[in-house]
Amino acid sequence: KQPELIAPSILSANFARLGEEVDSVLAAGADIVHFDVMDNHYVPNLTIGPMVCEALRKHGVTAPIDVHLMVSPVDDLIRMFVDAGASYITFHPEASNHVDRSLQLIRDGGCKAGLVFNPATPLSHLDYVMDKVDMILLMSVNPGFGGQKFIPGTLDKLRQARKRIDDSGREIRLEIDGGVKADNIREIAEAGADTFVAGSAIFNTDDYKATIDAMRAEIAR
Ligand code: DX5
Ligand code: ZN
Repeated sequence: KQPELIAPSILSANFARLGEEVDSVLAAGADIVHFDVMDNHYVPNLTIGPMVCEALRKHGVTAPIDVHLMVSPVDDLIRMFVDAGASYITFHPEASNHVDRSLQLIRDGGCKAGLVFNPATPLSHLDYVMDKVDMILLMSVNPGFGGQKFIPGTLDKLRQARKRIDDSGREIRLEIDGGVKADNIREIAEAGADTFVAGSAIFNTDDYKATIDAMRAEIAR
């Protein structure tokens, strides 16, 4: 297993002062910035695109930016996020017409590539592309909104994904997204996750550092 990463989801940040918010969570000990892209087509909500990613880079953010595409189709936005300074780009396999090609497009752009699985999406989408993914992201809520409740069945799915990664012998990050908090992060880590997205659990608190420290303490316990 690789070192654990805390990935605040800026979906729950104050968009009116996004640069400061990102600076604050990074100063508070966050490892990577989780960037949720919604298109009001694949999911019933609309957020931010490549221009905002580029603006964060120009603002001086050097930490990895983890772009979670909840859009369909995916290839045009993959190209734009490669140019906008993304580090990881993940997409939902059922939202791409050609999954292998989209993964390759991400890698060709010099970014790390990943697939995202909704609660009801089977892991079998990984069967023929394990050598082309650097990250597997399991959704523990249905995508589209922050602040939802963690779906417990995801723990078993995490164990299955962890086994696939261990069997592959490759370094693949296992990320979890949705309803992650200090009081459930430990069982999530034990089920095999190594990268933890948390939106409302971090941004809805006053002290980002205290929250992130509490999460790390739970993981280490
Ligand atoms: C949901 C997004 C998540 C969201 C998580 O579609 O992918 O990243 O921000 O929010 P919380 O942590 O509040 O469940
Ligand atoms: Zn996300």
